[in-house]
Amino acid sequence: MMNEKVRELLNQQINKELYSAYLYLDFSNYFEDRGLDGFANWYYIQAQEERDHAMLFYRYLQNNNEKVTLEAIAKPDKELSCDMAVLKAGLEHEEYVTSLINDIYQAAYEVKDFRTMQFLDWFVKEQGEEETNANDLISKMELFGSDPKSLYMLNSELGARVYTAPSLVL
Ligand code: FEO
Repeated sequence: MMNEKVRELLNQQINKELYSAYLYLDFSNYFEDRGLDGFANWYYIQAQEERDHAMLFYRYLQNNNEKVTLEAIAKPDKELSCDMAVLKAGLEHEEYVTSLINDIYQAAYEVKDFRTMQFLDWFVKEQGEEETNANDLISKMELFGSDPKSLYMLNSELGARVYTAPSLVL
């Protein structure tokens, strides 16, 4: 039997990841309206990845014969006042998700739930990559965002991103 606190946090994470997907869809929608289709593509794929993350938590609980409870997904609540605000909201959100993963890891560690710790290792690495990506995007926007030609090229670069399924398979 899984520790109740660990189970509860894993279950909550399904909702948090689905919220992340919803939030990034909102970002994608913002950039679609702006006519920046590359940025829209980048966040659309990000939304798909977040849905994958939710499914991994869902599947992990089910594979361990633990009950899953699905809750309502909150409305995206970030203030999307300008392009940079969106990018910064993305970084802030990823840092928040990292703290959630760390909290689950801590709870698993305290009860010597090595299986859950091993499962979470993939997410620890993934969060590191996502924070790096979010930071890189902000840096590029700071450097090139004010020049239309450079913004066009950055938009083209982000438009080339393609979806790949997560490397973690359960
Ligand atoms: Fe699944 Fe980017 O957190």
